[in-house]
Amino acid sequence: MMLRYFQNSVEPVLEYSDQEEFQRIVDSVRRHLQRKERAGIRLLPRRQIGKREPEAGAKMTLLSDLEGHLFSDYGAAYKAGDLEDLRDAIGDCRRCKLSSGRTHLVFGVGNPRAEIMFIGEGPGRDEDLQGEPFVGRAGQLLTDIITKGMGLRREDVYIANVVKCRPPENRNPEPDEIASCEPFLIKQVELVRPRVIVALGKFAVQSLLKTKTPITRLRGIWHDYRGIRLMPTLHPAYLLRNPGDKKLVWEDIKKVLAEIRSPSA
Ligand code: URA
Repeated sequence: MMLRYFQNSVEPVLEYSDQEEFQRIVDSVRRHLQRKERAGIRLLPRRQIGKREPEAGAKMTLLSDLEGHLFSDYGAAYKAGDLEDLRDAIGDCRRCKLSSGRTHLVFGVGNPRAEIMFIGEGPGRDEDLQGEPFVGRAGQLLTDIITKGMGLRREDVYIANVVKCRPPENRNPEPDEIASCEPFLIKQVELVRPRVIVALGKFAVQSLLKTKTPITRLRGIWHDYRGIRLMPTLHPAYLLRNPGDKKLVWEDIKKVLAEIRSPSA
C-alpha cells in the first residue's frame, strides 16, 4: 500500500498488488463463511467467542466413548475441533443405507454455543429437500415453541436429529442406522456443549436414553445424557395431531427455562 501526502493529511492508496491481496482476503472470508453455513451456522454467536471451557469438575463423558473410533472411519469426526470440522468429517456420508435415498444430509443448525439443544428423530420430506432440521409443519410448531413460548430466536438454540438422513416414508430409523450416526451426534453435543438437551418425541428420547420406557413416563423429568441434563418432551408432529397436549410440553419447557435461568452449577 502506498501513502499519498497532502497538505495536512496522509491518504492510503491501493496499488494493484494490494487489490490482489484484498481479493484473496475476500475469497478466504467467503470460503470461511460458506464452511460455517454448511455446518448450519448462520450467525456468529453473540456470547463467548472462542471455545467454551468445561466448567470445573463438569462431568463430561462424551469424548471418552469416541476414543475407540480414532483409527476408524470416524477418526476425523473424533478429532473435529468445531462443527465445521465435524461437518467436513461426515462428508458425503455412505456409512449406512439411509444415504441412498437422501437429497440432503441434514447436519444441524443454530448457535454453535447454544445453551439449549433440541434433538429430534430424523429429517422428514421438507428437511430432506431443504437440508435443515425442523422446517416442515412440525418444524414451524417447534419454531413457535422457541420464539413465542421461550422468547428466544431459532438462531439462539441448536437443533439436530438422531439420524442425519431421511428414513424412507418417514419410518423410524433402524438400529444399524442409529449406530452409524451416533458418533456424529455425540460429537455434535460435545462441541456445542449445551446446558440442556430437549429430546423431542418417543423415538429420540428412547434412543438417546437407551430405554424402552414409554415417553409418557419419561417426559417432564430430568434425565442425564452423558453428563448433560436432558428433558424429554412430546414431539411437535404429535402435538399437531393432539393439540390438547400442548400444555404438557409447556410444562416441560418451563422447567427448561428455569434451569437455564438458574446460575450454572
Ligand atoms: N421431525 C424430526 O424429528 N426431525 C426433523 O428434522 C423434522 C421432523
